[in-house]
Amino acid sequence: MNRRGLVRPLEDDWRDALDAVARARGWPTSRDVAKLAAKVDALSAAYNDPARARAAMRDAGAARLGFSFPRDVPKGAAAVRELVGTGALRLDRPLRVLDLGAGLGATTWGLVRALDAMAEQRAARSGGPPEGGVVEATWMDADAEALQLAEAIVRARQGRAGALELQVRTVARSLGAAPAGAFDVVLLGQVLSELDVASPDELRRDRHVELLRGLLRDRVAPGGALVVVEPALRDRTRHLHRVRDALVELGASVFAPCLHAAPCPALARETDWCHEDLAVDLPPWLVPVARAAGLRHEGLTFSYLVLRAPGPEGAREPRLVDLLPAQGVPRVAHLRVVSEAIRTKGKHEAFVCGELAGQDGPVVARAKLMRLDRDANPGNELWEHLDRGDVVVVAPAPDAERPRVGPTTTLERATFDGTESDRGESR
Ligand SMILES: C[S@@+](CC[C@H](N)C(=O)[O-])C[C@H]1O[C@@H](n2cnc3c(N)ncnc32)[C@H](O)[C@@H]1O
Repeated sequence: MNRRGLVRPLEDDWRDALDAVARARGWPTSRDVAKLAAKVDALSAAYNDPARARAAMRDAGAARLGFSFPRDVPKGAAAVRELVGTGALRLDRPLRVLDLGAGLGATTWGLVRALDAMAEQRAARSGGPPEGGVVEATWMDADAEALQLAEAIVRARQGRAGALELQVRTVARSLGAAPAGAFDVVLLGQVLSELDVASPDELRRDRHVELLRGLLRDRVAPGGALVVVEPALRDRTRHLHRVRDALVELGASVFAPCLHAAPCPALARETDWCHEDLAVDLPPWLVPVARAAGLRHEGLTFSYLVLRAPGPEGAREPRLVDLLPAQGVPRVAHLRVVSEAIRTKGKHEAFVCGELAGQDGPVVARAKLMRLDRDANPGNELWEHLDRGDVVVVAPAPDAERPRVGPTTTLERATFDGTESDRGESR
């Protein structure tokens, strides 16, 4: 099991299921590479045009089913990996999920697959069978045809492997009329990008703050979570950073990805944005389609925000940073790696985000952390094996003015997939 154990590409049996759904509609399947790639090309153009930023089922059904769905399911899993891995979602009763702008249900499938993978890993450790559970999902979308296709996918996957049972009801309605009720998880997968696209930036931010704040207040059950996934594009991600900052100012609690509640340091410079690029590739059967459409097939790129509602007594629920090793240990930093590694002669650098050591106490920063090759030793060897998105415990906390992994610095990677934290071995 690799470190991304909760985030996996779709397996081959998914190909058969998706192809069967496509065939029933007379659409190109994954085996009609050129035809499907042409549809994918047209869909990309629609999504990349900020004035449109959407694609209805009647124009784009084949590409959304055959390409976007299998590409996006792992994004859903990745966005909830820390919630699932820290045990924040309980399965001792049905997990109530509201997926807004659900489309074909990719984000919910990601959540279900992450929970399945977690159950599998726990079972492997205990030697018993994977613990089952039920996910009761409400899928809401303004596009009734998308929901019909989503239901067809669920039917095609009946009898699938996995410990969790997925029960779905669909509601063809616009976001403003979200179904009443309290949900353990509310998902918004790549939906903000499609909303208010013609509005000026600030008005759009304020609307999205109001939308998410209202959902947290009225739809997320006490202790539950609101999960937003967005494309990794700079403008979409920076918009999400601005929405996050405004929500934090209004008292919202960020579970992930941020390990602090200060304003997002990536917003300080127009050229920065904080997105994920995990080492999870497209399933092999889609590689020819991606190539033919001129799209990448390696890596999983997205940005995300996980907020938590207060618990039943109104107390703040633990955030990811509260659950990391070395809590309360003085002079220890909890940092997230927010860039690729930068290797140049004699040194190894990467940007990190979190609380560093300042002259008058901790300082939140996005900083380029550097280790000289001559300072390498077994305690800091992990520095060479970290990837974007990793969370690392660094002792002593690097200095904000001169952020260095020195010869006596020790590093520990925190993992959230049920595997042990590690100090250095590569994947
Ligand atoms: C890019 S798709 C994402 C689908 C799915 N959540 C995912 O991550 O793969 C966005 C979906 O949001 C829906 N949508 C856009 N605006 C909406 C609105 N105002 N109310 C309900 N659904 C909306 C679209 O119909 C579309 O199915």
